[in-house]
Amino acid sequence: MAITLEHTLPRKHDLFDLPGSDDMHRRDRLRRRTAQDRADAPQLRLDGPPEGDRWSTYNDTGTLHGPQPRPDWVVDGAAAIDYELGLVKTGKEADVFLLERAIRETDRSTLLAVKRYRDLDHRAFRRDNAYLEGRVLRETRQRRAAANRSRFGRALLGGQWAVAEFDVLGALWASGAPVPYPVQLVGTELVMEWIGDDDGTAAPRLAETRYSTDELESLWHQCIEAMTFLARAHLAHGDLSAYNLLVDGGRLVMIDVPQAVDIVTNPRGIEFLYRDARNAASWFASHGVASADAESVMGELVAAAGLG
Ligand SMILES: Nc1ncnc2c1ncn2[C@@H]1O[C@H](COP(=O)(O)OP(=O)(O)OP(=O)(O)O)[C@@H](O)[C@H]1O
Ligand SMILES: [Mg+2]
Repeated sequence: MAITLEHTLPRKHDLFDLPGSDDMHRRDRLRRRTAQDRADAPQLRLDGPPEGDRWSTYNDTGTLHGPQPRPDWVVDGAAAIDYELGLVKTGKEADVFLLERAIRETDRSTLLAVKRYRDLDHRAFRRDNAYLEGRVLRETRQRRAAANRSRFGRALLGGQWAVAEFDVLGALWASGAPVPYPVQLVGTELVMEWIGDDDGTAAPRLAETRYSTDELESLWHQCIEAMTFLARAHLAHGDLSAYNLLVDGGRLVMIDVPQAVDIVTNPRGIEFLYRDARNAASWFASHGVASADAESVMGELVAAAGLG
């Protein structure tokens, strides 16, 4: 991947977050809510985490962390506890859960999304073959195992989707792209920034909500911008659709990136880029954005990638 973790571009939050009081109010509300909950819950005063919850794995040996500089809202420390707040969505390859990570008797608390890649026997392998072309598998043994689709090979692949998604999110986030910050990776469990309200309501997928023409124009513009960040990093999303774009208070956030392909080294890279551009443009065009056109976006993306 031709991305470095240098911070030459503006941070995501400089680009997209409204300095606004809205965010501050939401944060305050959550802080009050969680502080109150913790004060009301007697089991939280015991030495161990309450049943069903666990000590945060953030500081465990072997936990990989997202890029620096780490956002202020990331909660760490030995006293942090993870409270499972429920299932957000079951997907084809992974289940996404809502987690609250908090330090007892303090107001340090944050909501997180946890993407757990599914038990390998229950996963659909719809993406593996097409996308593995051009992906660098470091060990020959891994490559051979992947080719056989042995259980071991599948295990490696299962792990790799989480690793791939963690790496791509980290590199994209560091470049300023509108993606969730990847907080940590442990095995096949990826913990990332929660995109949604502080009351635990997930941001809707683009496909799920109705928008005014002005809102759609803005979202289309943001979609081109997001694709351009990827193209500059020599990446195509690989599965771009109105289901993998969340709309968080007017801000478009791209998710579900494990199958991102390198458009320079993958022989089918440009094909994937074009498919993404077509999928996005045709969704916006069919929802009334007259200017949404795959060909012109493709021109911009190829130029952004330095391939024009
Ligand atoms: N960071 C996040 N914040 C809030 N919600 C999220 C986040 N990541 C994922 N979700 C929710 O979980 C759903 C599934 O996530 P994702 O698309 O990454 O997984 P998937 O297993 O590939 O799903 P699918 O097969 O449906 O594409 C998303 O559509 C979204 O509703
Ligand atoms: Mg998805």
